[in-house]
Amino acid sequence: MLTIDVDVIRLTLHILAATIWVGGQIVLVALMGTLRRAAPQAIAPAARAYAWVAWPAFALLVLTGFWNLQVSGRMSPGGMDGGYGTTLIVKMVLVVLSGLGAALHTFAKKPALKGFWGTVGLVGALGATLFGVSLSFPG
Ligand code: HEM
Repeated sequence: MLTIDVDVIRLTLHILAATIWVGGQIVLVALMGTLRRAAPQAIAPAARAYAWVAWPAFALLVLTGFWNLQVSGRMSPGGMDGGYGTTLIVKMVLVVLSGLGAALHTFAKKPALKGFWGTVGLVGALGATLFGVSLSFPG
C-alpha cells in the first residue's frame, strides 16, 4: 500500500476544505427553490449555520494553500517559472473574489445585490478550483 504521509494529509485538507467551501455553496443554491417554497423562514438560519463551517474551511484553504506552495519549493527563486506564477496570480484573484463575494453577499440587504455578490463568490470559487487543479499539472 502507498503511504499516507504529511504531504497526503496536507493536500487532503486543501481538497476537503475546497469541497466544503465550493460544494456547500452549490448545495445551498440547489436547495434555495425548495426552501423558498416550503420554509422561507429557514433560509437565513440555514445560511448562518453553513457559514460556521464555510469560513473555517476558507481559512483552512488559505493556510494549506500557502503550505502547498512552501513545500513544493515554488516560493524559492525561479520556482514560479513556466507560467506557474501567472496561473497562481489568476487563482489568487479568484480566491479574493470568492471570499469578498461571499462576505458582501452576507451583508447585502437588497435581493438583487445579494444575488450579484453570491454569484461573484460562487464563480470565483469555481474558477479557483479550476486554476487550483491546473497548478497540480505544471507540465
Ligand atoms: C477558494 C479557495 C481555493 C480553492 C477552491 C482551491 C482549490 C484547489 C484545488 C481543487 C486544487 C487541486 C488539488 C489537487 O487535486 O492536486 C488546489 C491545488 C493547489 N492550491 Fe488551492 N484552492 C484555494 C486556495 C488556495 C490558496 C489561497 C493557495 C495559495 C496561497 C492555494 C495554493 C494551491 C497550490 C500550490 C496547489 C497545488 C498543490 C500541488 O500541486 O500539490 N490554493 N487548490
